[in-house]
Amino acid sequence: MRIAYLNPSGQLGGAEISLLDFLASLRAAEPDWSLRLIVAEDGPLVSRARALGIETTVLLFPAPLARLGDAGVGGPSGNQVSRLALAARLAQASAAVAIYVRRLRRALSEAAPDLIHTNGFKMHILGAWSRPPRTPVVWHIHDYVSLRPVMTRLLRRYAGRCAAVVANSRSVADDIQAACDGRLKVYLVYNGVDLERFSPNGPQLDLDELSGLEPAEAGTLRVGLLATLGRWKGHTVFLKALALLPSGIKARGYIIGDALYQTDGSQHSLEYLRGLAAQLGISEKVGFTGFVEEPAAAMRALDVVVHASTQPEPFGLVIAEAMACGRAVIASQAGGAAEIINEGVDSLGHSPGDAYALADRIKRLAIDPSLRERSGSAARTSAEQRFNRSRLASELIPIYRAVTTLPGRE
Ligand code: GLC
Repeated sequence: MRIAYLNPSGQLGGAEISLLDFLASLRAAEPDWSLRLIVAEDGPLVSRARALGIETTVLLFPAPLARLGDAGVGGPSGNQVSRLALAARLAQASAAVAIYVRRLRRALSEAAPDLIHTNGFKMHILGAWSRPPRTPVVWHIHDYVSLRPVMTRLLRRYAGRCAAVVANSRSVADDIQAACDGRLKVYLVYNGVDLERFSPNGPQLDLDELSGLEPAEAGTLRVGLLATLGRWKGHTVFLKALALLPSGIKARGYIIGDALYQTDGSQHSLEYLRGLAAQLGISEKVGFTGFVEEPAAAMRALDVVVHASTQPEPFGLVIAEAMACGRAVIASQAGGAAEIINEGVDSLGHSPGDAYALADRIKRLAIDPSLRERSGSAARTSAEQRFNRSRLASELIPIYRAVTTLPGRE
């Protein structure tokens, strides 16, 4: 089987890490298949995919197409780009889109894949426009399309060109199905992680040094949020929760990650978050590490991993990774994130955006080391049962087989 994968970003966001896990799992299960990746931006995804033996080409988005995004329109980012401004940007980008479609069409017809697997909203549409005749397209959906009005219209319009959808959670599956009036064939495939890389034992980063802080006093609880700086990832809730902790609790928070995407307006800056920490009077208690190459080593350096998304999280790869590292996890309970945890057993939950509840969960873990221990070891067990990435190939291959044997194909 020859498969072409299309991904808009070259950075390592959740959707890209997930794609790498799917590719690794498929490589191991079907070493003879030819897997090719076309990425629209250079970046760490390219070298990581090549290291897996995937033939990877960078086919750059022209700048107006790279910047285009409607995540801010009524979306979770909190930054409301006006529809009018967006329409103007769309018009500007249309010439760039036409050029790109021509290039992509050429690249795909040379690759002559049996199927195209697209990963990311722009590529779902560009793939549907550029596919060679009769080549099935599989949309791998990682986010809620209903938060993106322009994209919802586009996906609904081109749903007929999509042979199957892979959704990363039940709630994402329901969302895409509702957006496309129930016309899609949707399969649920939860993400998996590399359980060896994300394991309780192994190297740990020095988070204090990375953040330019003095080493924390012995007995300090280390609590971290690992995420891109998307506004909806709840950095401000996390900072407020740290400020709410009773003074007797020795805890240090870490914000691990940096701005990743080219799309305008949907991210905080580190300066803004540092400013907020200063306003809350907790500058000494919070470290900002910036982007880390090895999230597992960062997680292992923490006692508690916090997930604080203020909007329903489509899946929450970081939750699965932290569970695999055997850490105590606090997750924001909505969307796919609520599906993948067993609250009170392998993690603690809080309502999205509720800094008081988050502070309460951090406090409970701070004062009760045995709760941390129990929760962390249950988390590892759950990860082994549910997030082993070898499952990915065994769930994806039947979907590929179903779409490539559709009647009417050559
Ligand atoms: C996207 C989603 C995130 C998910 C990841 C992998 O980044 O927002 O929730 O974990 O994709 O599927």
